[in-house]
Amino acid sequence: MSPNAFPRPVAYLQCIETTCRATYDAGERIYTCERCGGLLDVCYEWRRAELDNVFATFDARRASYHPHDVSGVWRFRELLPFATSPCQIVTLGEGNTPLWDAPRSARYTGLKQLTVKHQGMNPTGSFKDNGMTTGVAQARRVGAQAVACASTGNTSASLAAYAARAGLHGLVFIPGGRIAYGKLAQSLDYGAVTLQIDGNFDDAMRLVREMARTTPLYLLNSVNPFRLEGQKTIAFELLQQRRWRVPDRVVVPGGNLGNVSALGKGFKELYDLGLITRMPRLTVVQAEGAAPLAQWYAAGRQGNGRPVTEPKTLATAIQIGNPVSWWKAVRALDWTHGTCTIVSDQEIADAKAVIGRDGIGCEPASAATVAGLRRLVAEGCVHPEEDVVAILTGNALKDPDFTVQYHTGQLFTDAEREMHLTRAEGLITSAFANAPRRVPPDADVLRRVILDLIAEPPPLTAS
Ligand code: F0G
Repeated sequence: MSPNAFPRPVAYLQCIETTCRATYDAGERIYTCERCGGLLDVCYEWRRAELDNVFATFDARRASYHPHDVSGVWRFRELLPFATSPCQIVTLGEGNTPLWDAPRSARYTGLKQLTVKHQGMNPTGSFKDNGMTTGVAQARRVGAQAVACASTGNTSASLAAYAARAGLHGLVFIPGGRIAYGKLAQSLDYGAVTLQIDGNFDDAMRLVREMARTTPLYLLNSVNPFRLEGQKTIAFELLQQRRWRVPDRVVVPGGNLGNVSALGKGFKELYDLGLITRMPRLTVVQAEGAAPLAQWYAAGRQGNGRPVTEPKTLATAIQIGNPVSWWKAVRALDWTHGTCTIVSDQEIADAKAVIGRDGIGCEPASAATVAGLRRLVAEGCVHPEEDVVAILTGNALKDPDFTVQYHTGQLFTDAEREMHLTRAEGLITSAFANAPRRVPPDADVLRRVILDLIAEPPPLTAS
């Protein structure tokens, strides 16, 4: 096969429900099982012999300038052989996100060492780009003219950009007043029709799914299994950057639970193909006011789990009460002997500031990873010597309001705003505050301030 040839498609859709397992053609325009309503996987008839040296092929492509090799998603195309033609591909060079050592965050969590993979360094600033490039390829394959999603902000920013690049109509359904400004700005700038729904994310999700059933809109939320195919390559790229060495644990924030599902599928496929010999333990961290999965685990996985009807967290990206990919996430945690945990907004806010002090920064939802690790190490569930990768899902510039409010001591919980508690009750404590200092326009005063400042050692530790 020539280096830039696309693998022949051997893909089909299959219901994940063990009691159903219905299969469908990969070109069918469906999102869930027609027979039982279950979630669908994109499955492949692998030709194992052709994959023998696939890691070497992926490594060789890092020296290529071809856009499909430069993409941190399509570089791994042998492991996502569903696209029928290379001309369906719309790429912005997504993926290619850095893996960084985070020493202050490590110390804060109690780990000896911590690596972060910063998905916020994607073209639109979040991991959604990994999935949007594959989702849009499938949209083109099925002949869609218009694509849509419900979003807490990042999916909408990503959809808006990729739809614009593909020449498709982009429509985004967002919960009115509940998404970070950076994300709203992106969706407007990339030209998506932005529909602000008077309700929360779960309401927007229900409505867009109904619209995708009753209008020609093609749905690009992560219920669409082709989105998750792109997101599973986060697992591949992470391994490639570690010279294919598997970490002990990979930690992600959990909202709609698409990302953990995708990572689970990625690692499981490599394992089943014999390309890796063990899987990392996946760990999901949810915000206290929006933690249906973690609560279900804490209660011993009784019944089918309950949605949270009024999800509340300052980490608006993960303010989701009824996650769509629930059973795929449970499957991913079972496959990898994974776990999940809960953190408060206070813990998220402090962890975010610590990640900032590492010179890395991220949006609030991403910081749930470091906050969750701190908790799990303290509880003895994570060993301090574990080799851990935290996935930082979104860029620090996505939610500047949160950051400035934290550092100036003006970050309040939703409870304060919506339940009219006193301001003191709803205040997030800013343990790592770094407020701007007011100084007069006077050189002598400035000189004194500067000399006092640099007389102290640089802040090496975030206690
Ligand atoms: N982190 C960020 C920054 C996100 O934007 C999201 C989800 C998550 C974590 C959670 O990932 O849903 O796969 O469990 N954002 C979606 C959106 C819901 O609409 O942008 P998940």
